[in-house]
Amino acid sequence: FDAVDLIRTKRDGGELSAAQIDWLIDAYTRGYVADEQMSAMTMAIFLNGMGRDEIRDLTLAMVASGTRLDFSTLSKRTTDKHSTGGVGDKITLPLAPLVASFGVAVPQLSGRGLGHTGGTLDKLESIPGWRASLTNDEFMAQLESVGAVVCAAGAGLAPADRKLYALRDITGTVEAIPLIASSIMSKKIAEGTAALVLDVKFGSGAFMQDPERSRELAETMVRLGNDAGVATRALLTNMNVPLGRAIGNANEVRESVEVLAGGGPADVVTLTVALAREMLDLAGVPDADVESALKNGRAMDSWRAMIWAQGGDPDAALPTPKETHVVRAERAGVLVAQHALPFGIAAWRLGAGRARQEDPVMHSAGIELHAKPGDAIAEGQPLFTLGTDDPDRFPRALEALEGAYRIGESGDPIDDGGPLIAG
Ligand code: URA
Repeated sequence: FDAVDLIRTKRDGGELSAAQIDWLIDAYTRGYVADEQMSAMTMAIFLNGMGRDEIRDLTLAMVASGTRLDFSTLSKRTTDKHSTGGVGDKITLPLAPLVASFGVAVPQLSGRGLGHTGGTLDKLESIPGWRASLTNDEFMAQLESVGAVVCAAGAGLAPADRKLYALRDITGTVEAIPLIASSIMSKKIAEGTAALVLDVKFGSGAFMQDPERSRELAETMVRLGNDAGVATRALLTNMNVPLGRAIGNANEVRESVEVLAGGGPADVVTLTVALAREMLDLAGVPDADVESALKNGRAMDSWRAMIWAQGGDPDAALPTPKETHVVRAERAGVLVAQHALPFGIAAWRLGAGRARQEDPVMHSAGIELHAKPGDAIAEGQPLFTLGTDDPDRFPRALEALEGAYRIGESGDPIDDGGPLIAG
């Protein structure tokens, strides 16, 4: 095949065959097809879309570009979840140990954050000693003993996606459903999990804002998973408002531990419980009493074992910011809006996120929300606290928060985009 012919086909609205897609992905991974050519191809896909068969073939070609893990020797069933990412989305932290406490294995291969949505590994790395990299043997042993593992995906897993995602990131071609769906699902299929629950976000803090487009993304991914033999379901969840009260890294770990201790913010608990039920149902544990596991210490024991197994100390003090800045209510009323995206951007500017993949994050940085939409507010009451080790970051973070929240009158509609779980 010739890359230019394939680019012309997609440019002109045609379909690529499985053989053409296999060739393209293999040749790109090996460096025979240049970044310039693949950029043109991803833009053609972005503009003209892909058919169902093409999306499936692209996904399978990316799976085939690397190794596929095999859990057939484990004595436990595997079940995993993937979130498309949001502001304050720490759900993996309580969820993985909670689900594992029912005797199933949760092989969470996670990423680092880029942009305003934080990465699970960045959050966990705020725990002293905890390490994200495990050898394959350590990974398998921990799945068997503890059940829950959250670790970095090795370079051998869907390497085509790694290369393609980096290219899309700098060519304005991330937000295309065929490309997002194949990217996410190639990694999950290669990971080898038997079951998968997708938490597909919509709303201002999600990267697919329109609920209908999120639904289309969810349906595309569910089909890809089931066609590849992974029992897959999706929940569509609202990301117009930050999840929970903590946005950052160490503070999100703290909030997750509160959930594992039977407390924590209602929205974080609701979503954790809903996803846990779906994951366990797919793993053959229907009607699991997940709420009790959060209240009676069973999920907490599983969390502690997971952190110890990866070198972390679950009792160690977590980093706190050197400098804080409290924003207070300028009037009394009801908090009627708290938009996720600006809060995500502000936390990022405080140092909780990174601009480039190789940059470090500041584990102590972030935002604590003292009120949630619907709460009554007194004049002068603290609304949120910004934290960072570098006070020069406050002005830019505060700039991002202009217009990010609104205090109205009691009885005013709450601008939160509707229920947390849409379906
Ligand atoms: N996450 C991924 O892994 N890939 C995408 O394309 C988008 C989000």
